[in-house]
Amino acid sequence: MFTPQHIQQFNSIETPFYYYNTALLQNTISAIKAAAPKNYTIHYALKANAHPTLLNIFKHAGFGADCVSGNEVKRAIECNFAPSHIVFAGVGKSDNEINYALDNNIFCFNVESIHELQIINQLAALKNKTANIALRINPNVDAYTHKYITTGLEENKFGINPYEFDTVLSELKKLNNLHLIGLHFHIGSQIQDLTPFKNLCLRVNDINKWFIQKGYLLPHINLGGGLGINYSQPDTEAIVDFESYFNVFKQFLELQPQQHVHFELGRCIVGQCGSLISRVLYIKNGINTNFAILDAGMTELIRPALYQAFHKIENISANCASPVSHLPSSIIHLKYDVVGPICESSDCFGKAVSLPETKRGHLIAIRSAGAYGEVMSSRYNLRNEVKSVF
Ligand code: LLP
Repeated sequence: MFTPQHIQQFNSIETPFYYYNTALLQNTISAIKAAAPKNYTIHYALKANAHPTLLNIFKHAGFGADCVSGNEVKRAIECNFAPSHIVFAGVGKSDNEINYALDNNIFCFNVESIHELQIINQLAALKNKTANIALRINPNVDAYTHKYITTGLEENKFGINPYEFDTVLSELKKLNNLHLIGLHFHIGSQIQDLTPFKNLCLRVNDINKWFIQKGYLLPHINLGGGLGINYSQPDTEAIVDFESYFNVFKQFLELQPQQHVHFELGRCIVGQCGSLISRVLYIKNGINTNFAILDAGMTELIRPALYQAFHKIENISANCASPVSHLPSSIIHLKYDVVGPICESSDCFGKAVSLPETKRGHLIAIRSAGAYGEVMSSRYNLRNEVKSVF
């Protein structure tokens, strides 16, 4: 929700830029802390947004860091996350990345294949070290989300499949520089219906029992992230119902008292606090379609082009200019295809979007862009690096 003060602030800044509402972020963090049982550890997933200002907030909140590249591990360390609170996942960790993480004594590698186990063991042996590892398991649980962000099915490249478990355990007996400390799962992202998380718990219970029967009572069970946000109504549901989310795990997860639960949350923490702010450059009226051409494009926010993702689009100049006494129906609304300046037809934020009559120079906010927005921006067309404002 933007006020005339925001417009005043934004008018003095060159667009496009990301605006982050840190007060909302703090409230979101408080809601997580109030809802999560004390023995659950939350790792913030840097892949959602790795801006140092935000990372400092998460560090102070006491979250750990979930990283998927050597540079994310480096960023977490630079932002003073203790290495003992850093987990490192990813199907294709390079030798350099593994070495960097070993040198910094991170808490745990989430390992995605038998081959990767062998390589981490080899590299750790060269350093005379023992690496803590968790097995990233592909639980074959459908997250019912966009196919590009589903990860927990057999057809996905992620994780070790249950039919490989016997081989993994016999292989681990030979790998003396690895210490198996846990199991790791992640079924996908932008999951709003909680049923897939219940299904995940039931699978985890079975898999955990299997390992215990084989003599492995593993102290750490990491359930990944994936909790979705409401892209249609960013103001009415600015903070996710964390209580219901954690209740699923409290209710359905059956662990041993010695086992500690971890999460890797990204989008549901940081998604709603960010908006991409841009300005209308041109209005182009066609026979059937009006275009509002912005100075932000798929280079700043690629989600609509890549996943056909919906983001609420608001003309905040027009919204804030209309006197409070105006009934909404008295403001003329028109339909616009809201597009960017990039030479691609997929560079479109929304089709037939109903907006108050929109003019050159108006500020447009593309909401719920705090997660997977700035981090996925690119320099395509040699565009400037996108800025951020707090
Ligand atoms: N843990 C693992 C192993 C992951 O792969 C992910 C996300 C997370 C945690 C955090 O998931 P979250 O809580 O944010 O859902 N670029 C896509 C999303 C890709 C998600 C990748 N993995 C998007 O814009 O929707």
